[in-house]
Amino acid sequence: MPDPIDRPHGEPAREATREAAEAAPAADWSGDTLREALDRAAEWTVDYRKRVEQRPVLPDVQPGDVRRALAKTPPRTPEPFERVLADFDEHIVSGLTHWNHPGFLAYFSSSTRAPSIVAELLVAAVGVNAMLWRTSPAATEVERTAVDWLRQAVGLPDTFSGLIFDTASTSTFTALLAARERAGDGVRDDGLPGGPALAVYTSEQSHSSVEKSAIAAGLGRRSVRRIETDAAFRMRPDALEAAIADDLAKGIRPAMVCATIGTTSTASVDPVPALAAIAERHGVWLHVDAAYAGPAAMIPEQRPHFRGWEAADSIVLNPHKWLGTSLDCSVLLYRDVAPFRASLALTPTYLESEDDETDLMDIGLALGRRFRGLKLWVLFRCAGTDGLAETMRRHIAMAEAAAAHLVEGGAFELAAPVSFSTVCFRAAREGDPAGEARLNREIMSRVNAGGRSFLSHTELDGRYTVRLSVGSVHTEERHLDDALDALHRAAADLSPGEPG
Ligand SMILES: Cc1ncc(COP(=O)(O)O)c(C=O)c1O
Repeated sequence: MPDPIDRPHGEPAREATREAAEAAPAADWSGDTLREALDRAAEWTVDYRKRVEQRPVLPDVQPGDVRRALAKTPPRTPEPFERVLADFDEHIVSGLTHWNHPGFLAYFSSSTRAPSIVAELLVAAVGVNAMLWRTSPAATEVERTAVDWLRQAVGLPDTFSGLIFDTASTSTFTALLAARERAGDGVRDDGLPGGPALAVYTSEQSHSSVEKSAIAAGLGRRSVRRIETDAAFRMRPDALEAAIADDLAKGIRPAMVCATIGTTSTASVDPVPALAAIAERHGVWLHVDAAYAGPAAMIPEQRPHFRGWEAADSIVLNPHKWLGTSLDCSVLLYRDVAPFRASLALTPTYLESEDDETDLMDIGLALGRRFRGLKLWVLFRCAGTDGLAETMRRHIAMAEAAAAHLVEGGAFELAAPVSFSTVCFRAAREGDPAGEARLNREIMSRVNAGGRSFLSHTELDGRYTVRLSVGSVHTEERHLDDALDALHRAAADLSPGEPG
């Protein structure tokens, strides 16, 4: 049987559209067509954002549905943009999960703040590649400026500088390459075989990107020590110390300690000052993954969670998670650029330049660089640090209120302390783990099927756990109320007679 998405779609309406398009004269995009298309796209964008709430957060599609609705072959001749936009609206947007829906409370919820949308347009308009300073001086310098503004806003000393990557996974991977260079003997030139075995230490709650980085860096997954956490899901310094001692006794060289401020499941905060002291004592690279929570250091009353992070060799924060830039924008900060250059800088003759300036291609794998700095710079200009902090403060307050409401009446219990804007909870069934997992899975899928809210799940202490994370600029109290009402209704329907 052919793959359903490879079957001829045979949709008469689509074929008619194609024929009409092929008969139409080619559009001249150098004239007013661009302006008209931008106007239509702008109109569509404003309307989409105004009405996204009326759509279900999750699309009602099965795998292959969207591809079946699209023409199987590319058009031979240009089609009018109007028709392309109509298909985008009808066949593509209806198949999207709406991250900008105010009821999106899953994973680490994020949204695009309006200035970042406009900045993306400007980035595409100038279409530069900042691989070298020379290939677009302002792009490099705006990126350096925006990253430095972020550094100042989160209260890190000016000994840190940095740059922007696509994702935290890439940022952490790049930091691990630098750490590997520092810990290994000439890995850059000789590769790993023959050198000392290296190890990476991170908590059992840290993001999978740490393990993936170790795989990609050639250290192997087994080089990652998943250090035990305490009852509040924070890395235990004593367990870290013991793991390092154990490896040293075996001749294994510690390459990196990766602490997390805002872990993926519960947003817990590792005890960075204690971990930093251990890393320093052993001369091990300290990386802090603050991909989600990092921007919250802009809020004065949240700053205590970040104590000690200035001791890190590298830190990752994702403005595309909680700050409101569009995906992708992950900032990697470091105290010393030398190990980054040592791990990857390589300049062939055709890329040599006379300019005494930082070429960002020297710090990372990719040569080509998007002008990502612009959207961060525009966002700071148009929202201001007070505005950005205020939005996150509001999210934290909403999450705390949601947690209080969830446990009221006893239908749910918290599965972890509420941290930043993330709440972990479950309808508990003591002594019946399988029944408890079934019940919570069903509660969550009923809420998600309702279309007004989207929650995700994790596992804590071996128990199924529902997560709710507030991070979208569009989310208001009433959207939390919708989610909470749906949760309480589902719990009451599925366990009549239980408290609720
Ligand atoms: C703590 C943490 N670190 C890293 C990541 C990976 O982020 P990215 O998708 O930018 O690679 C995530 C993703 O949610 C995360 O929660």
